[in-house]
Amino acid sequence: MRRVSQVNAVTVRVPAKVNLQLGVGPIRDDGYHDLVNVFHAVSLCDEVTAEPAERLEVRVQAAPHSRVAIDGVPTGTDNLAARAARLVAARLGVEPAVRLRIRKAIPVAGGMAGGSADAAAALVACARLWDDREQPVLARDDLMDLGADLGSDVPFAVLGGTAVGVGRGERLTPALTRGTFHWVFATADGGLSTPAVYGECDRLRLDAGEEAAWPAVSEGLMTALATGDAKGLGAALSNDLQPAALSLRPALRRTIDAGRDLGAIGAVVSGSGPTCAFLAETAEDAAGLADALHGAGVAEQIVRAQGPVSGATVL
Ligand code: C5P
Repeated sequence: MRRVSQVNAVTVRVPAKVNLQLGVGPIRDDGYHDLVNVFHAVSLCDEVTAEPAERLEVRVQAAPHSRVAIDGVPTGTDNLAARAARLVAARLGVEPAVRLRIRKAIPVAGGMAGGSADAAAALVACARLWDDREQPVLARDDLMDLGADLGSDVPFAVLGGTAVGVGRGERLTPALTRGTFHWVFATADGGLSTPAVYGECDRLRLDAGEEAAWPAVSEGLMTALATGDAKGLGAALSNDLQPAALSLRPALRRTIDAGRDLGAIGAVVSGSGPTCAFLAETAEDAAGLADALHGAGVAEQIVRAQGPVSGATVL
């Protein structure tokens, strides 16, 4: 085994994502769907600290001031972050002797890629812990490649910003953006299973006799991003999984409608849900919308965030 570094502990901050466009194509032989997935990283972040330990351990807690329900997050070595640590250790030829402390602010099973974010943070943290040479063996691109083996959304959580994902969503091209967009997120009590939502999407299409079309990137969305046009972005938000999420969780329709009625310039279910994402034109509008949504009582929790922000970052 290679001598490991003297670094004591590494903390990485990692963002949640919202999908600005989620175009779901036909189901593939491997069970995944071909996607056009426009990811956008927002300032709602988990933190993962990696520190040397006797053996691989995972501890999960809610971040200070966060009301995230963490029951249901695996703390054993089948946590995606633990799998990330094992992958990095295997690549570097070291023992995965690390304690991962995860502080969660991203909703669990909320459609904001919280589990993928923690895996991305663990990749970056463990690489820094065990590979702290001037010329690290594992560059950021290598960590994104490792991340793709863990989940379709993991490479984006390493990269951050705004990016178009194709394939399973793991093949990424950064998108040109201008300025900052102001978001309000409405979380729901209880998560939705991503495979169940994709399955419901297939079922609804089959029932309707619809062939899944090959998705294409929305030109209107790309123009709105490049010009910093919040109203254009709000109008272009789309999610092919939304009908499936609403079918499995009909109460979400009330949340989406309330956001629109209360002045959101865009409203969409985030990924596979159940978190709903609302766009506001300015930071002040976002504050007002958040207060109004809170008053309407249509969500478990209301959280404000901005995007785009960087991917997994060592603090
Ligand atoms: O890649 P990941 O493990 O995050 O995917 C979770 C589940 O989401 C998959 O098991 C699959 O059911 C569904 N999925 C899909 N097509 C994609 C990405 C995810 O069907 N492109």
